[in-house]
Amino acid sequence: MRLTGMKCAVTGGASGIGAATVKRFAAEGAQVCILDRDVAAAQTLAEKMGGDHFALELDVRFEAAVEQAAASVYTRWGPLDVLVNNAGSELNKTYNETTVEEWDKVLDTDLKGPWLLCKHFVPPMVERGSGSVINISSLNGLVGFPLSTAYGSAKGGLVVFTRDMAIELATTGVRINCVCPGVIETPMMERWTDLMPDKDEAKAMLRGVMPIGRMGAAEEVAGAVLFFASPDSSLCQGSVLCVDGGFTAQ
Ligand SMILES: NC(=O)c1ccc[n+]([C@@H]2O[C@H](COP(=O)([O-])OP(=O)(O)OC[C@H]3O[C@@H](n4cnc5c(N)ncnc54)[C@H](O)[C@@H]3O)[C@@H](O)[C@H]2O)c1
Repeated sequence: MRLTGMKCAVTGGASGIGAATVKRFAAEGAQVCILDRDVAAAQTLAEKMGGDHFALELDVRFEAAVEQAAASVYTRWGPLDVLVNNAGSELNKTYNETTVEEWDKVLDTDLKGPWLLCKHFVPPMVERGSGSVINISSLNGLVGFPLSTAYGSAKGGLVVFTRDMAIELATTGVRINCVCPGVIETPMMERWTDLMPDKDEAKAMLRGVMPIGRMGAAEEVAGAVLFFASPDSSLCQGSVLCVDGGFTAQ
């Protein structure tokens, strides 16, 4: 029960890594607000967990919506203890086939979104003098991959954004850190393998990419997010933690 009584919000909390984080936080005693543009799935999860958890519809790309969500969470709970910027949108296209609309969608979701959430949720945390923000980046933010210019730019930007925010927040009592998952078995990964001519072959290739010889589970990433959410990481500020089965150790 490492998060007893803590008020936490998770963007993209209705699916995959976000949903695993929501469930782990709840199991550790937190009250969780699930922020997702798929509000039906978010509500189903909140209702299934019972307690004081709740869901709000939010598309992280739009400032007015983020501002409204921040106001509504503040009215209910006051400042958050933990904010997880997890909502993400993938794209697998070459740099010259990517359209401006696709580029904007990925950058707006994966980079502008976390900034907007920080802009509107973090000031009350600063005023109180405590809190923890966790950004979910990716291996793609650290290492080059084919078909990844938009997604990789957004995720690499998120790593640097985390470090810059860490310096701005350094003396405020609010911590901000970043988790970079490797290949994780989630609906996002399913969508990626659906695009491949042979799905089983694609999955085998992905398992091979991970030195440990298997994909990760969303719950294994949630464990790392929990570390940054809890006081166990009190000295971490601007840290970037790879949860990637050894990929970046190669
Ligand atoms: N699965 C992987 O292998 C992997 C690896 C590295 C990083 N990541 C990152 O982890 C995060 C979660 O990925 P996942 O695999 O669990 O994906 P997922 O598709 O299973 O879940 C993503 C969730 O985000 C929500 N979402 C998407 N766009 C949104 C928006 N604009 N506003 C609000 N909610 C939005 C979706 O509705 C969904 O509930 C993403 O940021 C992703 O880039 C995933």
